[in-house]
Amino acid sequence: MFTDTLADRFGRTITYLRLAVTDRCNLRCTYCMPTEGVVSLNHSDILSWEEMECLVRLLAGIGVSKVRLTGGEPFARKGVLPFLLRLSNIPDVKQLHITTNGVETAAHIPQLESMNLTGVNLSLDTLVPDRFARITRRSRFTEVQHTLAALLQSTIPLKINTVVQFGLNDDEIGEIAMLAKSHPIEVRFIEEMPFNGLVGETFACTNHWIERRLQSLFPGLQRNESQAGTASLYQVPGFQGQIGVISGAERTFCGSCNRIRITADGQLKTCLYDGGVLDLRKLLRTGATDDDIVSAIRQAVLRRFVDGHAAEQVHPSDKKSMSQIGG
Ligand code: GTP
Ligand code: 5AD
Ligand code: SF4
Repeated sequence: MFTDTLADRFGRTITYLRLAVTDRCNLRCTYCMPTEGVVSLNHSDILSWEEMECLVRLLAGIGVSKVRLTGGEPFARKGVLPFLLRLSNIPDVKQLHITTNGVETAAHIPQLESMNLTGVNLSLDTLVPDRFARITRRSRFTEVQHTLAALLQSTIPLKINTVVQFGLNDDEIGEIAMLAKSHPIEVRFIEEMPFNGLVGETFACTNHWIERRLQSLFPGLQRNESQAGTASLYQVPGFQGQIGVISGAERTFCGSCNRIRITADGQLKTCLYDGGVLDLRKLLRTGATDDDIVSAIRQAVLRRFVDGHAAEQVHPSDKKSMSQIGG
C-alpha cells in the first residue's frame, strides 16, 4: 500500500487538489479569454467523471484532504452535482470546495448545503449590470446576483473573487469590500495575471495599488498576519468578514504551497506556472495500475520547482487562458 503523504523535495506536503472539471464557460471574461480563438477540448479529451473520481480517491489515499472543483465554469458541465456528492462520500476528503462564476449556481445551493460543501468561491467583478456585460461579454448579471443573494443566506462559507481592472472596476473596490461588513465572508481583490489567452501584458492594478486603495478607503485596515494562503487578509474594525488581496506576480506563498492541479484533460500541474508535468489521462487510458499512477504522481511531485518563477523559466508563458488551467 501507499505511505500516506505526498511531499516534494523542499519539504512541502501536498494536501490540496484543484481539479478543473471542464475548460468550457458560459462567460468570456476579458482577463481570462480573448474575444475569439479559444478552442474548447473535445468531450473525449476531457477526463470522465469516473476517471476524475479515481484520481481523487488515489490522491486522498496519500494525504490530499482538500479538493476544489474549478473550470472553466464547473456548472457548465453536466453531472457536476452527482460528482460532488460522490466526492463528499470519500472519507479522507475533509474539505470540498467549488469556484464558480455564479451564472448557473443559485438553483443548486440547497443541494450544496445539504452535502456540507465546505466553501464556495464566487467570481464577482462588479455590482453594475452593464459593466458586468462589458467585463464578461455576456448579459448574465441577474443570475449572478441571485447566486450571491442565495449564498449570503446559506450556511456555506463564501469567498468573493474580484479581479481588479483599471478603468473597468477599480472604482468599485470600496463598494464590493462593504459586502464583508455585514456578512462573515472573505472579499478578495485579485491582481490580474497574464492568463488571458494573449501574450505580453503588464497590468495597472497591482496588488500594491489595491492595498493602497484599501488603506485609503478603510483607514482602520489591519493586516491579519496569522493567515497562510494565496490571499493577504485584512480586518476592518466593525466588519464581520475579512478583505483579501491576491498577488498575481509576487508568488510570496510558494514556500508553503500545498497545492497541485489537474486540468480538464488530465494534465497534472505541480505549480500554476508549470505547463503540465504528467499526462494522467494517458496513464488512466493505457491500463496503468493504481500503484503505477501513484508512483508517477510521486515522481512528478518530487520534480516540483522551488517556486513559480523557476517553473515559469522552464515553461515560459504559452498563451494559456485561465479557463484551461483551472485558476
Ligand atoms: P482557497 O485558498 O482554497 O480559498 O482558494 P483560492 O483562493 O486559491 O482559489 P480560487 O479558485 O478562488 O482562486 C482565486 C485566485 O487565486 C485566482 O485568481 C487564482 O488564479 C489564484 N490562485 C489560485 N491558486 C494560485 C496559486 O497557486 N498561485 C497564484 N499565484 N495564484 C493562485
Ligand atoms: N488573473 C487573475 N485571476 C483570474 N481569474 C481568471 N482569470 C484570471 C486572471 N487572468 C480568476 C477568476 C476566478 C478564479 C478562478 O480565477 O476570477 O475567480
Ligand atoms: Fe469563465 Fe471564469 Fe474565465 Fe470568466 S474567469 S470566462 S467565469 S472561466
